[in-house]
Amino acid sequence: MNICIIGTGYVGLVTGTVFAELGNDAVCVDKVEEKIEKLNKNEMPIYEPGLEELVTRNRKEGRLTFTTDLKSAVQGAEIIFICVNTPTSDNGDSNLSYVKAAAEEIGQSMNGYKIIVNKSTVPVGTGDMVYDIVSQHYNNSHDFDVVSNPEFLREGSAVDDALNPDRIIIGAPTKQVAFRLLELYSSLEAPMIITDVYSAEIIKYASNAFLSTKISFINAIANLCEKVGADVEDVAKGIGRDPRIGQAFLNPGLGFGGSCFPKDIKSLVYTSQKFGYDFELLKNVLEINEERVAHFFGMIKSRFPNLEGKTFAVLGLSFKPNTDDMREAKSIEIIKKLTAEKAVVRVFDPVAMPAAKKLIDSVTFCASAYEACSSADAMVLITEWREFKQLNLEKIKNSMKTAVIFDGRNIYDPSRKEKMGFEYYSVGRGKWPKSS
Ligand code: NAD
Ligand code: UGA
Repeated sequence: MNICIIGTGYVGLVTGTVFAELGNDAVCVDKVEEKIEKLNKNEMPIYEPGLEELVTRNRKEGRLTFTTDLKSAVQGAEIIFICVNTPTSDNGDSNLSYVKAAAEEIGQSMNGYKIIVNKSTVPVGTGDMVYDIVSQHYNNSHDFDVVSNPEFLREGSAVDDALNPDRIIIGAPTKQVAFRLLELYSSLEAPMIITDVYSAEIIKYASNAFLSTKISFINAIANLCEKVGADVEDVAKGIGRDPRIGQAFLNPGLGFGGSCFPKDIKSLVYTSQKFGYDFELLKNVLEINEERVAHFFGMIKSRFPNLEGKTFAVLGLSFKPNTDDMREAKSIEIIKKLTAEKAVVRVFDPVAMPAAKKLIDSVTFCASAYEACSSADAMVLITEWREFKQLNLEKIKNSMKTAVIFDGRNIYDPSRKEKMGFEYYSVGRGKWPKSS
């Protein structure tokens, strides 16, 4: 099939590439010329494991192309995916201006029947909005359908997630339209759920909201564990063994960041309010999440009440491992708090340093975790990159001014670190530091 993807970001680029890999002809469009130029030189605009190899192969075999020419991409396609960004303002109101602009341009470019698929995460009712805009700009024609096909990939494992989805959701006006879209996915072995457009739009938010609730729940349990001296990791294991609860998304720590959970939960609260429902539960989920950084910073302050002139090695900058995405990364908040109190901050991230340099100043960017920790008063671990689990901590300890670790993601074993001679503080595992 000939498909067109509008918006070549994390979702659009991965979606287009994976559909090309499945044998379709995919044209990815973006309005940012620099991004398209890069991709046409086979340079990846984002770090995503496995992506470059797939892009290279499919470009070479002619199934994947990149352009800024939306009109010709739309005209040559039967199915058009909208994958543009949908940021949320602080009050949770989704900014749909990019979706609106894409719909307008699609309408102006239409040259016959198309299926227009909304893959961006959008509030319920946006499918109707897209339908109205396209029809206004397409000579009031109704020779098209609008479908909701939300995306569930995670950054850092996006290619694998897109090739092995755990479900495919199609919200369509008729079964016939849904089946046509499903043909695109036919070679993937995944449960397919066909529903109406509104339900599909809500499924996306409900999924992210449920996962965020699990994270805030375990973080609230971590707070209790700290008060009574229990171990949240054992509690998470103990409850996660119940298949009705499950092990996933019970990692306590600094809370959820990234481009999706915070914005999507705010948006769902806002939309619910708009329709007359006060989603108190999700407001609490957000509140618990928002106080994670202050709580962790409080731990640092308990140990080092005066931060002026103290040196901190911040390990991990991206919002999660295996990505260079810095959107709503906890590192930014922690670093701001440290530098506001005149601490010296040395940072390292295996992949996100170039992206971080555009957002963070007043810190020293180091070439390795070892360099960052050298002469530091404490290590502050923010992102649980695999390589941080494998560090030679003996070497690090010997190079530090004081052997103190604040582990925001519980990647190390407390008793082993203490045996090694570290003062080790983590989340929800009893010990709270005493002032030095
Ligand atoms: P992104 O910011 O990485 O990419 C969006 C791209 O769309 C940008 O390159 C932008 O230039 C382009 N764009 C905007 N308006 C355009 C227009 N009119 N014409 C052409 N290009 C245009 O965003 P993303 O992370 O890929 O997210 C896209 C959507 O998918 C959002 O709604 C997001 O919530 C949702 N989503 C994201 C993820 C994820 O992991 N990032 C996962 C699932 C769903
Ligand atoms: C998330 C969802 O997992 C995807 O299914 C969804 O498609 C995507 O949002 C989206 O809608 O954009 P992503 O944001 O890439 O994917 O990353 P996650 O792995 O879900 O992590 C989100 C945040 O939660 C990270 O900051 C992570 O550190 C945090 N987290 C995750 C925890 O604090 N504890 C956990 O147990 C799991």
